[in-house]
Amino acid sequence: MIQKGLRRQPGKPTGIVGRIVGYIMDIYNREDNHWTSSLLEISETSKVLEVGFGTGLAIADAAKITTRGHVYGIELSQTMLQVAQKRNQNAIKSDRVSLQLGNVMALPFEDNYFDCVYSINCIYFWEPPTQGLAEIYRVLKPEGTVAITARNKDNEVYARWKPHLVRDLLQSSGFVDVKPLNGLNPKHPIYCAIGTKPFT
Ligand SMILES: C[S@@+](CC[C@H](N)C(=O)[O-])C[C@H]1O[C@@H](n2cnc3c(N)ncnc32)[C@H](O)[C@@H]1O
Repeated sequence: MIQKGLRRQPGKPTGIVGRIVGYIMDIYNREDNHWTSSLLEISETSKVLEVGFGTGLAIADAAKITTRGHVYGIELSQTMLQVAQKRNQNAIKSDRVSLQLGNVMALPFEDNYFDCVYSINCIYFWEPPTQGLAEIYRVLKPEGTVAITARNKDNEVYARWKPHLVRDLLQSSGFVDVKPLNGLNPKHPIYCAIGTKPFT
């Protein structure tokens, strides 16, 4: 029972246990967050969305660049929302970052709004993933960028999320020029699948 609860926590960290899980993610996923941020081709005027921002590390990275744009984030977990709001409080106060509860399955944003939408260690929890990707496609502007970062592991848990499978999911969702890029640390295997929404 306790084991099951702990396994569920990364998909929606909740309460005191969720805060501890968030603290662990903050350390363990730090590299994933900073590396993904470094790949995003965003400018100071970009409108950017992160799905499932957890403790808000990559939100802070993006906000350093988008000084005249805006960074939005949606997150399923109230506990993570509070942690990320605290981390990004100055950017929120100066109206450069907006964080809210939400679900990738029904994004609370208008069509063709963002220059870039990214998500780190979160696609595993979208059921079905194609619905989340369809929503990301809808809210991206034509020529906007999607970036999905995930673990590149051979065990059963991650078998569904191998780079070529996520590339295929992105392509079947309508994205073009999809390239899975490998992380730089072989001891911590991750990849980021980056694609573009075409003009239709
Ligand atoms: C494993 S954590 C990763 C957090 C952060 N991106 C990182 O890499 O440290 C997954 C996060 O995605 C959130 N999440 C899961 N499913 C979601 C959904 N359908 N929509 C939005 N957020 C979701 C969870 O609440 C959790 O905070």
